[in-house]
Amino acid sequence: MPQIPEKIHELTVGRLAERSGAAVSALHFYESKGLISSRRTPGNQRRYSRDTLRRVAFIRAAQRVGIPLATIRGALAGLPQERTPTREDWARLSEAWRAELDERIEQLNRLRDHLTDCIGCGCLSLDSCVLSNPDDVFGDRLTGSRLLAGDRPAGPGAPQAGTGTA
Ligand code: FES
Repeated sequence: MPQIPEKIHELTVGRLAERSGAAVSALHFYESKGLISSRRTPGNQRRYSRDTLRRVAFIRAAQRVGIPLATIRGALAGLPQERTPTREDWARLSEAWRAELDERIEQLNRLRDHLTDCIGCGCLSLDSCVLSNPDDVFGDRLTGSRLLAGDRPAGPGAPQAGTGTA
């Protein structure tokens, strides 16, 4: 009977890449950021436990919806003993991230609408082009309300707000 190698449940980086669909460079990057970990063999090769596959699936799924790596790392670190996320963990975290995603979609929709105004225009006016004024300092003007005291626009060409009380 052939001898079963020790730690057969571990994966090389190549095998992990193949199984997870992530590039080897991405796996190295995740590891450098503390999202996954490996042990080194006596020959200094990386070996990953099998549950790293699920961890990588979790990271990639979160990244696909635009969750920043720092947030993903925080979520993983927040699990008891930094365990690999369970089905329940993913269900709970994805629910929490949904609100964030909804907000981002809303922001993107607003940007798309503003971009539509820019198409064929080219003015990049600080007064009327919302995209040239990304902090939306003058956004109130568009809705007819006043700039608030302390909301002074920056920049040499920026108009000054009124002399309101401090
Ligand atoms: S470039 Fe003119 S409105 Fe944006």
